[in-house]
Amino acid sequence: MITIIGSGKVGGAAALFTALRKVTDEILLLDIIQGLPQGEAMDLNHMLSEKGIDVNIRGSNDYSEMKGSDIVVVVAGSGRKPGMTRMDLLKINTSIIKGVAENIKKYAKESIIIPVTNPLDPMAYLTYKVSGFQKNRVFGMGNMLDLSRFVQFIHESTGYSRNSIRALVIGEHGENMLPLPRYSTVAGIPLLSILSRDKIEAIVQGTRQVAAKVIELKGATVHAPGNAISTIIEAVVRDTKQVMPVATYLDGEYGYSDVSIGVPAVIGKNGAEKVVELDLDSGEEEWFKKGIESVKSAISNLTI
Ligand code: 2OP
Repeated sequence: MITIIGSGKVGGAAALFTALRKVTDEILLLDIIQGLPQGEAMDLNHMLSEKGIDVNIRGSNDYSEMKGSDIVVVVAGSGRKPGMTRMDLLKINTSIIKGVAENIKKYAKESIIIPVTNPLDPMAYLTYKVSGFQKNRVFGMGNMLDLSRFVQFIHESTGYSRNSIRALVIGEHGENMLPLPRYSTVAGIPLLSILSRDKIEAIVQGTRQVAAKVIELKGATVHAPGNAISTIIEAVVRDTKQVMPVATYLDGEYGYSDVSIGVPAVIGKNGAEKVVELDLDSGEEEWFKKGIESVKSAISNLTI
């Protein structure tokens, strides 16, 4: 069973994309708002019935129903509004996520937790600390979403199929995110030999800023995060060992400790099974460090 805590637009989209991937028999949508998860579940079940997909979606306001969950996705909390940075949500979402993590600890001890609420890296850290789970069992979804945007920019700039693009974004899911052109290719050809330096710089900046643009235009980002969540879920359930950037707790990797931030990790049935360490050049290291400093300063304000 997969539980999604928070049944707003992103929670609903995560349930939708996860159901379409047929990686579980049952999805539980939880929310404190009466009726919302139940209505969302009904709407999704109607869609799945027409498609002949036997994944059952349930909605509830009762946390105890998440007992037995294999994976718990946390999207509860306030979303980013036009003009806000992700970090602006720190105060408001801290108490919500603390309560949620305590409930997961109480009812779904054996699960893998995927935090999604912003500010993503501090909330992944908070969830890890409050749950007391092993570090491989708590990792946030942020850079997979950034990656989907980076790939779209590469596709738009080169005209090549999205399917031929392999790219990477690490670091803070925030102002200091680090798209990595040096580790990006199209059909094995280094991106650096396909696009000019200026063009690459423009798409790196675009990747950092485009979520704000979507939020300004339609009020929220929905489909891309919902899908990115389901991509990670599929890798866990099918034990694929795909390397994906996720916000995981660092214990010396990349030279940092006691902080959660996006780094590539091998994703399988035990969660983020192994952090993959990359050689960063001085410019990349600078951005990564700025992300670490930003997350560390946020978590120093958390009362855990
Ligand atoms: C996003 O990048 C707002 O963090 C959210 O879509």
